[in-house]
Amino acid sequence: MADSSARTVQLVGEDDVPGFRAAARRLLAQGVEPGRISWHVAGAAEGDLFAHSPAEEPPPDAANSAVLKLPAFFVSLCNRTALHADPSRFGLLYRLAWRLLREPGLRHDPLDPDRMQAEQMARVVRRDMHKMTAFVRFRPLAAPTDDGWGVTHVAWFEPGHHIVEATAPFFARRFAQMPWAILTPERSARWNGQQLAFGPGAQKSDAPPADANERLWLTYYENIFNPARLKLAMMHKEMPRRYWKNLPEAVLIQPLTALSAQRSGQMVEQGASEPAHRRPAASIALRLDQRPEVVEAPGTLAALRQATERCRACPIGQFATQAVHGEGPVDAQLMLVGEQPGDQEDLRGRPFIGPAGQLLDRALAQLGLPRAALYLTNAVKHFKFEPRGKRRIHKTAAQQEAAACLDWLDHEIALVRPAAAVALGSTAARALLGRPVAVASERGQWLMRDDGLRVLVTLHPAALLRMDSRDFDAAFSAWLDDLGKAANFNISPAAQDL
Ligand code: URA
Repeated sequence: MADSSARTVQLVGEDDVPGFRAAARRLLAQGVEPGRISWHVAGAAEGDLFAHSPAEEPPPDAANSAVLKLPAFFVSLCNRTALHADPSRFGLLYRLAWRLLREPGLRHDPLDPDRMQAEQMARVVRRDMHKMTAFVRFRPLAAPTDDGWGVTHVAWFEPGHHIVEATAPFFARRFAQMPWAILTPERSARWNGQQLAFGPGAQKSDAPPADANERLWLTYYENIFNPARLKLAMMHKEMPRRYWKNLPEAVLIQPLTALSAQRSGQMVEQGASEPAHRRPAASIALRLDQRPEVVEAPGTLAALRQATERCRACPIGQFATQAVHGEGPVDAQLMLVGEQPGDQEDLRGRPFIGPAGQLLDRALAQLGLPRAALYLTNAVKHFKFEPRGKRRIHKTAAQQEAAACLDWLDHEIALVRPAAAVALGSTAARALLGRPVAVASERGQWLMRDDGLRVLVTLHPAALLRMDSRDFDAAFSAWLDDLGKAANFNISPAAQDL
């Protein structure tokens, strides 16, 4: 039987989905008609105008909350539609539930206007949640908060709907080890590594300003921006303008897109980075023992260069432009070892000058480590690539090929005699330690070789460049922590502190 008395429901917050569901269950069981209910949210501007005493609707009570047979699709629809910013959403959902209980055909009528509207609202909410996962940018605090949560990173975000609580678990999983807070105008969320908590809204000025990492992120964005791939309509769809004001990289969109036609024209004109001269194709089936240069240890770095240049102990060398030798002072205290030269290194004959090298340079600058004081080299001295059209795509050297290059690195270590070495990535770690190394579990700690050389393993910069942009800031600061452990090897041998 229908109850035609007027009711007011006061929900405790805009995202009070459990409160809505409990009240709806009770009112449906009592037969209260949709048109008789006013839905209000405590503290909401519009709700205040009509505020009735919350006592009008008693809290849910199991005895009068009948079990109502609503279809499963409605329950999940309700969880999303109820987070939409439209104040009419609760009335719409209640009306839909009321009709579903009375109109059996409605379950099978996806074109019903109430269903279509609720589903459209749910889609908008899901999209807003997805955008939040993509566009939240954490900034580090100068010091952890002293509120018992020890928050180290804070982000400011302006969602379009009431999605903070529903989306926060994603960040708790993604940044499980990092205590963070996400501030929005309506709600704030924080995570201490174990627990999520929610509080009132905040102001943009409560979040920290841009910092050095953010400038780094901009450089990274600038480097990965490919003008030839720019699709403006798609970009606006995926990154709607209303999110731009809180995205650090958005300041670059205008200038980079303005330059893109010119830059892609230049790229077409330049063509791919072809090797300056190709080596004549000799037989690939060279044997690993064809390495006469290794018989005598070169006495100087210059002699080592010449010998490396002639090396054909594996097939890689004959396709590369040149061998890329180590670079740096012969008495450097710290040696950084990479995997192998890339496209630009191969063409110019210097290690770490391409995008990975630029990221390494930034890290060294942030750590106050002058590149000129370090010896930079690679485990493999020639660029291994696979031609794809006009491009040369980096290929990791096979284990046998890397093994064929080991002597060159050993000669470099013998000539430079560094106090410590940093292995950037697994190829370098294996070359330095003589065994397979799981970088993720062995990174950041000092390991000792039989010859007394200390080795610190960390990520290769290219691994950071390939990373999902949302993980970049945290990964870069962990990388700095690793590299920082080697920083004092650059000061003086006497001040080394492990
Ligand atoms: N990657 C490396 O490992 N070494 C270089 O020199 C450049 C990129």
